[in-house]
Amino acid sequence: MPPAERPEHYFSTAPQGRSQRRTVTLALPDLRVDLATDRGVFAGDAVDVGTRLLLLEAPMPEPAWGGRALDLGCGYGPIAVALGRRLPQATVVAVDVNERARALCAENAAQAGATNVQVHAPADVPAGMTFDAIYSNPPIRIGKAALHELLLHWLERLNPGGYAVLVVHKHLGSDSLQRWLGERGGRVERLGSRLGYRLLVVHPNPSPDHPEEAP
Ligand SMILES: C[S@@+](CC[C@H](N)C(=O)[O-])C[C@H]1O[C@@H](n2cnc3c(N)ncnc32)[C@H](O)[C@@H]1O
Repeated sequence: MPPAERPEHYFSTAPQGRSQRRTVTLALPDLRVDLATDRGVFAGDAVDVGTRLLLLEAPMPEPAWGGRALDLGCGYGPIAVALGRRLPQATVVAVDVNERARALCAENAAQAGATNVQVHAPADVPAGMTFDAIYSNPPIRIGKAALHELLLHWLERLNPGGYAVLVVHKHLGSDSLQRWLGERGGRVERLGSRLGYRLLVVHPNPSPDHPEEAP
């Protein structure tokens, strides 16, 4: 298929398709926000079911938590905005390769009053920056090898006692991903399985003082 006719992936760095903005609503028991979306970004027509499940069921720190959280693959920002609003003392770093998604995420965070959200291209995150938590609906469709490389890169930046929560559909390889993560050491829990999605909580380096520390 010639490039012009090839359907664009949601993980294009610079989507070429014509912009067609719209608004979707992220509705959670504690938070309801309208988010701007566009063509060329993931789940542009409605908040993804897996993303919503993560926001409903993933462990969250107390509202006064002052740590640094990463939204890996932020898209237009449903996870980053929810984290920013739920954890106003935290710093939320949102990264995505897709520049249209990053612009929407920054706009949505500002519109929602989540002033603690910083949006970056992955390469622009300072090399020494580490995280206490990662929340992600990861880009499974980039392929297994690229996904593994991506996860290793960011999991290495978790502080001792830090954790990552990933939502993955079982038809997109959640069980093999769980096995692979387990083989890397640390501890991997499967928190739940609903609507075909699995929530995986990864503790790559449990803190020696609190090896069973819950997020
Ligand atoms: C499944 S989507 C989730 C988007 C958003 N968090 C949501 O829940 O709607 C995964 C996102 O990861 C992004 N992505 C792909 N490769 C990436 C990479 N190497 N680094 C960071 N983000 C990446 C994609 O552009 C996409 O926006």
